[in-house]
Amino acid sequence: MDLYGVLGNPIEHSLSPEIHTQFSQQTGCEIIYKRVLAPLDGFSSTAESFINKGAKGFSITVPFKLDAFDLATDLTDNAKAAGAVNTIKISEGRIIGENTDGIGLVNDLTSNLNVTLKNKVVLVLGAGGATQGLLLPLLNEQPRRLMIANRTRSKAKKMKHDFAQYGETCGFGLDEIKNEPVDIIINATSASLHGEMPDIANGVADGAICYDLMYGNQTPFMDWAEKNNAQMVIDGLGMLIEQAAVAFEFWTGKKPKTGQVFKELRR
Ligand code: ATR
Repeated sequence: MDLYGVLGNPIEHSLSPEIHTQFSQQTGCEIIYKRVLAPLDGFSSTAESFINKGAKGFSITVPFKLDAFDLATDLTDNAKAAGAVNTIKISEGRIIGENTDGIGLVNDLTSNLNVTLKNKVVLVLGAGGATQGLLLPLLNEQPRRLMIANRTRSKAKKMKHDFAQYGETCGFGLDEIKNEPVDIIINATSASLHGEMPDIANGVADGAICYDLMYGNQTPFMDWAEKNNAQMVIDGLGMLIEQAAVAFEFWTGKKPKTGQVFKELRR
């Protein structure tokens, strides 16, 4: 059986082993998938020893996605644009870094929720690592407008410039969001982690699809979206499962179905 796993710190609450075990049973691709705790200052040695044990690949979670980017000997276009790696595949001695987060979000929106991004106005809140991981896959869907709004305006502007090679975006401060409805709002700030809500104009949620990358708890952003007449309010569980499905296919060549896994984890 091929060995895979997830490296992070902390790692005990990771849902990845459950998800990948279900994918493995469903596709008949027999794999062992382990949780691996890496010390905060010891990602690369932990990763190398896992590879030496015969691992064919692994997922990388907080706080090591930048370390994984540095460890990779080869990077996919997604990983290059994201500047971070959440999936590594070992192939003929090469350490191939991929980033499946943004594709996971797009797949959740388009395949599970029937939300088309093409020609839509999309507002992404935040200009940190999470946003950087989403932009290329979002741009590939050809939205009419892709806006990045951040508490610190200069970071949104910088991200707009950094992504100019991939497509047209615009970047501004949260306080510059106009009180005009948009089609899709994605909360990619870390505000939900701290029980906070990014400070934005009330009217924008009206009729919008509001997506928080966080999962597990109802977030202040989701409360705000519900109070402000959002058309749909979604948390990041679907994205978590979809990014895992893309990783599983990257490793094994088999595309798992995600619907049943979603139902079981949602319970
Ligand atoms: P991550 O990898 O999760 O994106 P990060 O790179 O530290 O983490 O970025 C965190 C993002 O959340 C930033 O865009 C941050 O805004 P600033 O650049 O102004 O710091 C945003 N953020 C965090 N808490 C927030 C809050 N309470 N309101 C609005 N934005 C917030």
